[in-house]
Amino acid sequence: MTKRDLISVLDMKDDMPELIDIAIKLKGERGQHGAPLKGKTLAMIFEKPSTRTRISFGVAISELGGMPMYIASSEMQLGRGETVEDTAKVMSRFVHGIMYRAYDYKIMDELGLHATVPVISGLDNLEHPCQALADMVTIKEKKGGFRGKKFVYLGDGNNVCNSLMYACAILGMDMVVACPAVRMPNAEIMLKASRIADENGCKISASVEPMEACKDADVLYTDTWISMGDTTLAAADALRIFRKYQINQELLAVAKKDCIVMHCLPAHRGEEITADVIDGPQSVVFDQAENRLHAQKAVLYKLLR
Ligand code: CP
Ligand code: NVA
Repeated sequence: MTKRDLISVLDMKDDMPELIDIAIKLKGERGQHGAPLKGKTLAMIFEKPSTRTRISFGVAISELGGMPMYIASSEMQLGRGETVEDTAKVMSRFVHGIMYRAYDYKIMDELGLHATVPVISGLDNLEHPCQALADMVTIKEKKGGFRGKKFVYLGDGNNVCNSLMYACAILGMDMVVACPAVRMPNAEIMLKASRIADENGCKISASVEPMEACKDADVLYTDTWISMGDTTLAAADALRIFRKYQINQELLAVAKKDCIVMHCLPAHRGEEITADVIDGPQSVVFDQAENRLHAQKAVLYKLLR
């Protein structure tokens, strides 16, 4: 059997609903899964810091009976000039899967190309697929489904936004991306997501008017205004250009009454979201964070078994 990677949400195009259902089922088992991944080791390579991804993957593989191995990329020979290809081939002889958090999606792709075991993205500069899967698990739990729902993403058109566009398109949920014109998401990804949405009877659209975008929304979502490794924007400029895209009570007031508020975390209160909203009754951010664990168990179960 050929190995399967999860580098883009598109790698889940055919079975995202199934992965969501597996995640919800595993969540119901509360860690008592037997040991379907007994004897399997997941290497977890990090080029950037992480709290949620690192801990949730570590716990996920452990609770499925396998073993996590944390590796800071700076401590590998990769940092001293060993090629990605050789690294991929060698690691594939030792471990059963590689989770990788990378600066550059091209290195992620190269690792996937040469590894003979599954490569799972724990974020790169283009996407954050495991985050999007956990987010969709959360929406299914809170809203019951995706069709006819309006999802609004506010702020920076970044890696998280890119993965969410694919996820909404695949699951048939309308999405409005409300970003400043200079920080719209990757044009190619937006086009691809729009095409998938067309086939699926939903719509991915863009707006520079957050108030208009948030009208009757079922979900409001935001992320940091400056992503890790993003040197294209100075902090002072970010505060200025994103200010009107902050999720606050004014924007929340035009959404549906039962609208939920999401954030992939880490959050910056007073910047992309106000404290009263993220700590308020409509926020589901900690359920969302917990679902990283369950969603990633579903991924590991499907890819490593
Ligand atoms: N949301 C997320 O991926 O968080 P970490 O950077 O803490 O892993
Ligand atoms: N867009 C953010 C997400 C962090 C989980 C970043 O890349 O830093």
